[in-house]
Amino acid sequence: MRKPIIAGNWKMFKTRDEALDFIYQVNNRMPSLEDVDTVICAPFPVLRCLVKRQGENLRIGAQNMHFEECGAFTGEVAPAMLTSLGVTYVIIGHSERRAMFNETDESVNKKLHAAYKHGLVPILCVGEHLEERESGQTEAVIKEQILKDLEGLTAEQVKELVIAYEPIWAIGTGKTATPEMANETCGYIRSLVKELYGEEVSEAMRVQYGGSVKTGNIAELMQQPDIDGALIGGASLVASDFVYFAQIALDYIK
Ligand code: 13P
Repeated sequence: MRKPIIAGNWKMFKTRDEALDFIYQVNNRMPSLEDVDTVICAPFPVLRCLVKRQGENLRIGAQNMHFEECGAFTGEVAPAMLTSLGVTYVIIGHSERRAMFNETDESVNKKLHAAYKHGLVPILCVGEHLEERESGQTEAVIKEQILKDLEGLTAEQVKELVIAYEPIWAIGTGKTATPEMANETCGYIRSLVKELYGEEVSEAMRVQYGGSVKTGNIAELMQQPDIDGALIGGASLVASDFVYFAQIALDYIK
């Protein structure tokens, strides 16, 4: 059985006051941690104020980190800085970082190793561009990302990994992959992990879908057998929507 995981990626949105307003609204309305994992991945400056106020069923994540322990890396944040704040999740390899901030599969791989070393749960993002989907290269693109990103990780680590399948053409565009299309690629990711690590690992690992998830399509996405949750951008900024996503996930404990 895989516990659903609903994660919000706030990207570069919300000041401290806005973040506090959000957490006060959602805190007591999250389902039990026993049934559903709910995570808010917020900008660095508000992480501590969210951790201090997180309800017993909500967890806080970062959206990126450096892979080094510390050093002369102006503007970067180290894994131990996150854990020292009480942060427990970290998004690694989001397509916006890959496209705009020189994130490569090599740096993603180093960050995954660093996350495990520090006890952070990574949410690894993979996904293809529209031209790649249209020219039938989706699986080849995903395979290359997974092979490079997971290099050197152990079976025990991959069991705990969360992979978010986010087709780049569906992010912030209002275009969602159809639930069947999303499920097919999430299933493909699971089959790759099965080839690499065996069935016990691939059945335990959770795969999320991300890309224009809204209150109107979350249920049909969660119904799919290989989709264990969602990584939600824009709609996760609205407290009542985030509560709705978390409640819907309760119906789809697989
Ligand atoms: P949207 O939900 O705004 O399309 O963003 C998806 C995303 O990038 C989540 O990481």
